Amino acid sequence: MSLVEVSDAFRLPEGSEVKIRGWVAAKSEVGGIIFLTLRDGTGYIQVAGKRGIVSEEVFKNLKGVTRESAVEVEGVIREDKRAPKGREVSIKGLEIIALADKWPITKSAVRSPSFLYDYRHLSIRGVKSSAVIKIRWGIIRAAVEFFTQRGYWLISSPITVQSACEGGATLFELDYFGKKAYLSQSAQFYEEAAICALGKVFVIQPAFRAERSKTAKHLTEFWMIEAEKAFMDQEENMKLQEDLITYICRRVAEVNKGELEVLGRKFTPPEPPFTRMTYDDVLRFASERGMEFKWGEDIPTPVETLLSKSQSKPFFITDYPLSARSFYHMTKPDNDKVTLSADLIAPEGHGEIATGGQRIHDYETLLKRIESQDLPKEGFSWYLELRRYGMPPHSGFGVGVERLTKWIAGLKHIRAASLFPRTPTRVNP
Ligand code: 4AD
Ligand code: MG
Repeated sequence: MSLVEVSDAFRLPEGSEVKIRGWVAAKSEVGGIIFLTLRDGTGYIQVAGKRGIVSEEVFKNLKGVTRESAVEVEGVIREDKRAPKGREVSIKGLEIIALADKWPITKSAVRSPSFLYDYRHLSIRGVKSSAVIKIRWGIIRAAVEFFTQRGYWLISSPITVQSACEGGATLFELDYFGKKAYLSQSAQFYEEAAICALGKVFVIQPAFRAERSKTAKHLTEFWMIEAEKAFMDQEENMKLQEDLITYICRRVAEVNKGELEVLGRKFTPPEPPFTRMTYDDVLRFASERGMEFKWGEDIPTPVETLLSKSQSKPFFITDYPLSARSFYHMTKPDNDKVTLSADLIAPEGHGEIATGGQRIHDYETLLKRIESQDLPKEGFSWYLELRRYGMPPHSGFGVGVERLTKWIAGLKHIRAASLFPRTPTRVNP
């Protein structure tokens, strides 16, 4: 009798005697037979025991076991057309390892989506929640594969920082032994330092934004895949993002086929090249639909959403005005009001999934930019100093992991892409 996982039980020959540990996802009784659905993270399998066939003690345990109890089952693998996926384990032994109280998440108890998030520590056991988390891991794993194949080095940057990468408005401030510090909004500045040591680097780590807006695509804590490369211009940077997203989508469609099915998501990996349009094209698109906004402002969310709904694969919006961008962006050689940057927008209304651009690498230009925007020089001193010690032209980007998960998994709200989401109104559980 060997200890196996649920997924093994679908591979082993019929008649194999196995021991499986897991949780009781469901329980029912039909004609003296008790059926349990056992879950262990690798899958689900039906196990069954009949009064008179199993020992009195085993039947007593079967009777007494509650939903979500942790158990160890001993039994024989049988083919059975009536069982989900055609197999079940007929029980010979059942040990209750940890008996669960009455499960609080019932259809009648769930009155709002927020109820499920109040109980997120328990509700994550559902088949759909697990499928999303497995897709998220599929995305991260594919990104690691992609960058490994291309010889990028993974670095980790500090989370407690003093320089605001993406502006003061969304900083979480903390008291660092009497000094002001912030939670990192992006690893970008540290990547920029690291490329002069390592050439090309990437990170996969958390980012924080004190974003009050309650939308379906904002978290206050999320994960970002960021990459930065020396001697890379914005053109090459967009190509890199296109390659990365294409690779991730193909891998996830293949590796997470089962999870996408569980979610009822028909996902077709996009074929490159991705369409490009300029900020000015978007301005025209908006005004033709009576959704005008001023040149220089950020693209309003309803415009981005409408545009995103009109597309069937990701697309770039290029040539953003400097006034809508962070200070470090390089401007076009022939126009100092327009940056060498782009957003990558997911289709079907999901919206922005990545932002990238070419950075100012020249000392004087960056100093002037910092001064012209009245930014605190102290916080940026080391970032500026990098420009005095051999900083070549360079570019990079950041992709939001949960945004990408939301699109690929076809989720309505970004919080479903996070195991324990953080939003303006939720820091617990
Ligand atoms: O567009 P953002 O702010 O760009 C940066 O932080 C750059 N410094 C990245 C870089 O060039 N290294 O953020 C990058 C991505 C967004 O496109 C979005 O996918 C995600 O991070 N993101 C969020 N995801 C969830 N909730 C939020 N509040 C997010 N803010 C940004
Ligand atoms: Mg952005």
